[in-house]
Amino acid sequence: MANPSLLILPGDGIGPEVMTEVKRIIDWFGAKRDLTFDVSEDLVGGAAYDKHGVPLSDETMAKAQEVDAVLLGAVGGPAYDNLDFSVKPERGLLRLRKEMDLFANLRPAQCFDALADFSSLKKDIVAGLDIMIVRELTSGVYFGEPRGIHTEDNMRVGVNTQRYTEAEIERGARAAFELAMKRDKKLCSMEKANVMESGILWRDVVTEVHADYPEVALSHMYADNGAMQLVRAPKQFDVIYTDNLFGDILSDCAAMLTGSLGMLPSASLGLPMANGRPKAMYEPVHGSAPDITGQGKANPIACILSFAMALRYSFDQGAEADRLEAAIEKVLADGARTADLMGPEGGTPLSTTQMGDVILGALDASL
Ligand code: IPM
Ligand code: MG
Repeated sequence: MANPSLLILPGDGIGPEVMTEVKRIIDWFGAKRDLTFDVSEDLVGGAAYDKHGVPLSDETMAKAQEVDAVLLGAVGGPAYDNLDFSVKPERGLLRLRKEMDLFANLRPAQCFDALADFSSLKKDIVAGLDIMIVRELTSGVYFGEPRGIHTEDNMRVGVNTQRYTEAEIERGARAAFELAMKRDKKLCSMEKANVMESGILWRDVVTEVHADYPEVALSHMYADNGAMQLVRAPKQFDVIYTDNLFGDILSDCAAMLTGSLGMLPSASLGLPMANGRPKAMYEPVHGSAPDITGQGKANPIACILSFAMALRYSFDQGAEADRLEAAIEKVLADGARTADLMGPEGGTPLSTTQMGDVILGALDASL
């Protein structure tokens, strides 16, 4: 059988730096675990704009549709802030999500024991935290029409539309219930049914899907209360299912509970392809971090954990994903820290490459 294929899109800012470490991890699995991928690389975001004048070329889009999984670094940066909206780096990312139809965005927020002190919350509130946010990723206000800025009576008006069909709500809900079945069998759905009709529909449809998953305990929460509960008592949650915009906000909030945005991976999954694998893209939740770009300071762990999610969700290599996650847990327990993970007691942080080195060492030790 042909090797599984991976398209790597390092993107902008720290994207290329963290992706360099992921490539070393990929090579390790080829050399030591006989798990070889056909890897190709291309441009997205500002990097693609610089070369092609668009944040994602049609050729790259076509490649993304063909491979078994896409790994993306980050997009955006101050150099691109003043570009026309239609060619901003983020449009490249949104085009990938939309055209690959990656409707289920899995954003785990897990607190590593070694990092419980780094949270802005008290240690006992976050220690052992393990939640999964399932964010609907291809619809809602991110894509709804009408949209735009127009003029009415000499006044500019900005318009975006929150629009969800029941089919869109349902397929994401199924993904969330399936995950809940493999975890603690608890699902909390978040919307604003108190003010939005799309929220009323959301609640109805999720309740209907629940009939197929009677073992899962379903609850509903208004998203604002959800944000409050996430910082008050995050361990009450197992799986959270929410829309595109609330999911964007709640996942940043959940991510920070764990101590650093530099730790959080994500998977964006779509429908199964002919080979049975889901259409998939994996990316760290952190952005391009222009303030530290090029300094070798970035934490590569979120991006490496995103590859672990690829092993698990695209390649059916759960045991190898466990191995990689355990290697990361080990180096953190041993005190390995990039700059974002330095506590008040100080010390010398590891560079991006040095963090890659110690993780590779832990992988070797796992054999
Ligand atoms: C995310 C990001 C993106 C989003 C941006 C970069 C378009 O914030 O993946 O959470 O808003 O979805
Ligand atoms: Mg975001």
